[in-house]
Amino acid sequence: MSHRWSARLRAFDPVRRTGRVNAIRTTVVEADGPNVPLGTLCEIEARGAGSAMLAEVVAVDTQRVMLAPLEQGLVTYAGATVTALPASDRIAAGPALLGRVLDALGRPLDGRPAAPAHELHPLEAPLPSPLERASPRQIFETGVRAIDGVLTLGEGQRVGIFAAAGVGKTSLIAQIARQAEADVTIIALIGERGREVDALWHDGLDVAARARSTLIAATSDQPAALRARAAFQALALADYWRARGKHVLLLLDSATRLAMALREIGLAAGEPPTVRAYTPNVFATMPRLVERCGALRSGGAITAIVTVLSETDAGDDPIAEMMKSLLDGHLMLSRALSEQGHFPAIDICRSVSRQAEGLVGDRQAGQARRLVQWLSLHEASRTLRESGLYVPGQDAATDRALERHAAVMEFLRQDRRQHVLLAETHRRLDAVAGDAT
Ligand SMILES: Nc1ncnc2c1ncn2[C@@H]1O[C@H](COP(=O)(O)OP(=O)(O)OP(=O)(O)O)[C@@H](O)[C@H]1O
Ligand SMILES: [Mg+2]
Repeated sequence: MSHRWSARLRAFDPVRRTGRVNAIRTTVVEADGPNVPLGTLCEIEARGAGSAMLAEVVAVDTQRVMLAPLEQGLVTYAGATVTALPASDRIAAGPALLGRVLDALGRPLDGRPAAPAHELHPLEAPLPSPLERASPRQIFETGVRAIDGVLTLGEGQRVGIFAAAGVGKTSLIAQIARQAEADVTIIALIGERGREVDALWHDGLDVAARARSTLIAATSDQPAALRARAAFQALALADYWRARGKHVLLLLDSATRLAMALREIGLAAGEPPTVRAYTPNVFATMPRLVERCGALRSGGAITAIVTVLSETDAGDDPIAEMMKSLLDGHLMLSRALSEQGHFPAIDICRSVSRQAEGLVGDRQAGQARRLVQWLSLHEASRTLRESGLYVPGQDAATDRALERHAAVMEFLRQDRRQHVLLAETHRRLDAVAGDAT
């Protein structure tokens, strides 16, 4: 058989997988088929000549399938035909997507024509087995002093940026995207405001960063199924590059909005609400997303940095709690710092990088520990100092911490337009926290 025919036969789907709409609810459409797996894309016939609405299968049982629309503004009707789209479990990938802004289905949002020649990559590739995984061995240089100096990250690490609204999560993500040494950067903006997409792409990144990046955006006004799909589209693109041995930086803003989109889908599909109405699909999906990132023994890594909205430390936000336990580190941003104009507003004492000590030498690890200790002694003595009861000379460690405080804060503060190379960060850290105690 000629190559041409075998390719065509492979692409041919012999079963016409269709069904009919039984019921239309506010956020889901119920149909009697097609009998296809979760996540399959379908077209639902809509009013208007030849028009069809894209939807995703979000629940299946013996009698029915539930579909969540991926498009707005189209109206379907009872009896309309539902047709499963072939190959919807694969995405278009390839170098032509670099420098582009796309939606959750890979359609251009940057006003340029659809990217030409592409390869297909599975939307959900199998999880790498534990034996295929490698722990981060290489430092992931962000160009941000506070991170590279004290909370060193490794290639393949999965880190969260936790903060309340408006404290600088997106700005820090943009700075890292611009400065970090990754072969490819995939940015997923999920459930954020529309103007933020343009602001991040054009103002947050520079020409060089855009050239190695693909931005996938699904804004807050888009249907939940499309917002959730954006995360998996981005992850699949990252996976495509990692499979080719590249070091990929995956930035997801925000994991909380992704969880909210999944909750919306779960509730619409009839899943039972649990804590804060989050449905079981949320707690099943978020770990899968995190687990698919990381470094592989065969080379290639996905370093993931995701933002998480967290209003308090009280541990009453199930998404923040879950993300903290899934990730290998968290950078906590503090409103108090951002209000003082201290950026990046990273609260060093409450942040952890679980890989830091294995990646840096004893000398830097010691300096980082000293710096954290000084900050916490400074904090612990605050009440005494503010009430005028602090008497220098009683505790040498606290005296030293207070004496070094201005220099420490100066080290941690950095303009977002300033890229600091690792050697310079080490030099400054030496000067601030040197060998002496
Ligand atoms: N590095 C920085 N230098 C100076 N100002 C900053 C910096 N980072 C953030 N800001 C200020 O804080 C504001 C909010 O920042 P940003 O949008 O990054 O926060 P966010 O946590 O992503 O907010 P949201 O929760 O609304 O998404 C910015 O408009 C800017 O004024
Ligand atoms: Mg933001």
